[in-house]
Amino acid sequence: MTTPSDVPSGPGNRPDDQQPVTHPATPEPPQPCVLVIFGASGDLTTRKLLPAIERLATFDRTPRELALVGVARTPMTDEQFRARSLDAARRGDEPASPQWERLIASARYVSGGYDDPKTYADLAAVLKDCDRTLGTSGNRAFYLATPPSLFGEIAISLGKAGLNVGADDGFARVVIEKPFGWDEASSRQLYTDIAQAFDEGRIFRIDHYLAKDTVQNLLALRFANTIFEPIWNRTWVDHVQITVAETLGVDDRGGFYETAGAMRDIVQNHVLQVLSLFLMEPPTSFHPEAIRDEKVKLLRAIRTWETEDDIRANAVRGQYSRGGTRDNLMRGYREENGVDPLSSTETFVALRLLIDNWRWAGVPIYVRTGKRLPRRVTEVAMHFLRPPQLPLFPTNNASREPDALIVRIQPEESLSLHFGAKVPGLAFDIRKASMDFAYGAGFEEHYPEAYERVILDALRGDPTLFIRADEVGRSWRIVDPILQHWAAEESQIPLYQAATWGPREATDLLARFGHQWRQH
Ligand code: NDP
Ligand code: BG6
Repeated sequence: MTTPSDVPSGPGNRPDDQQPVTHPATPEPPQPCVLVIFGASGDLTTRKLLPAIERLATFDRTPRELALVGVARTPMTDEQFRARSLDAARRGDEPASPQWERLIASARYVSGGYDDPKTYADLAAVLKDCDRTLGTSGNRAFYLATPPSLFGEIAISLGKAGLNVGADDGFARVVIEKPFGWDEASSRQLYTDIAQAFDEGRIFRIDHYLAKDTVQNLLALRFANTIFEPIWNRTWVDHVQITVAETLGVDDRGGFYETAGAMRDIVQNHVLQVLSLFLMEPPTSFHPEAIRDEKVKLLRAIRTWETEDDIRANAVRGQYSRGGTRDNLMRGYREENGVDPLSSTETFVALRLLIDNWRWAGVPIYVRTGKRLPRRVTEVAMHFLRPPQLPLFPTNNASREPDALIVRIQPEESLSLHFGAKVPGLAFDIRKASMDFAYGAGFEEHYPEAYERVILDALRGDPTLFIRADEVGRSWRIVDPILQHWAAEESQIPLYQAATWGPREATDLLARFGHQWRQH
């Protein structure tokens, strides 16, 4: 049996099997297709998917022969689903574009249970109808926007109904949202279930971070320039810091968050994806599998912390308590809706990771993420080694921050190079200076919303920005032992006040290794 950890990209899917090896500058338009959304009555569909499809249609990124079909248990007529879709994608008083109106005019809705064969028989009839009347050529993309516990069941039901293959030699793909399981074992089970109906090449696993333009820009920064590659290694780099900080709490997602926590919600996926893109070896081409091969190689090289001593020394968790200011008092996590008042779910994680490969041996990679931190910021910071000697300079300069390259992923996307410069004057003082590039000022173009890209790429069948099964398995292997240790931990989870930078233990973690977190 193949498992998520060892699933290969599959014959016919290897870099050297397929041409071209370069990335097309302008993506090819998708083929005619029916986009079927399961969970079409839900939050993700309303807030993210429909607005993204509207923009793609309005900007002529979708083919004329695209059909939209919603599936969910909530009873709705086609007309009601159409009205709801128009509402979801409305932008103020702007009238709907003709392309979007046309797409919605033919949208269909199938109501039924996700395990009920009748739902799939009804869906099959609608798909056939779309092929006949809208020219969708037998191609289908099934987007599973339901709770993850239903992913396996839906895929299996699609298989039983014969909908896991397109009609008339068309394609059939399945798109799923994170989380991909709750640990390595459950991710294997999920894989086994979905693989009953769809082989790996037709499973598109979304990590919306990968679809952010600025995350993709990590590839451009590293591989469209020659100046960075020579310094991208342990000879020049002292340590790396990755921060994914949110000001939001868990709001109305307490029930979900109680089963997840920051490690499963952010570290296992978004953080490890950004980390692997930033630190992987150069791919041999821009073929999707070449890039994914390098990411998984990097993930495999991350040392797993298995023993209690290692975990205590390298991993910190925390949970936000009530905090803020008198005017903006924020609830503690245990006071949020749907949260156990005695919960020990982590809303903050800090880790020290080591990568056992030739390029990064001995360079600590510090990552931290948390809810209810003082600032929303996602960034990667490469801190360079200090000069070996500072004979010329007064001693106070020895404490100057080391040079660093900061890639800000969001908000205010930018690139900054921090270095030391002489302060004008008679004394020879060195002070931090920086060269800053802000994307907003440098480019006029707008960033597409992440979901526009994932939907377009799923329709086009480009897997580059989707997670391969072996990446999923490997990422769980890194976080699982730590989660198990925390689950068994008898001591109380460290608390931090809302709107502060996490528990004291996170500061101590870096201090033990002579480092400190970047200040924001
Ligand atoms: P919802 O909880 O809104 O569920 C979507 C739909 O699934 C519901 O409208 C409901 O439709 C059906 N459903 C919900 N619970 C059950 C149940 N227990 N049994 C059967 N059907 C159920 O989920 P979201 O839309 O928030 O999320 C969908 C997926 O996207 C999830 O996997 C989530 O993890 C992921 N995701 C969501 C994000 C978001 O911003 N919402 C962000 C990132 C990922 P009906 O009752 O009509 O069948
Ligand atoms: C989601 C998490 O995957 O990413 C949320 O489930 C988190 O908890 C969100 O808030 C952050 O995404 P972004 O794009 O706002 O950084």
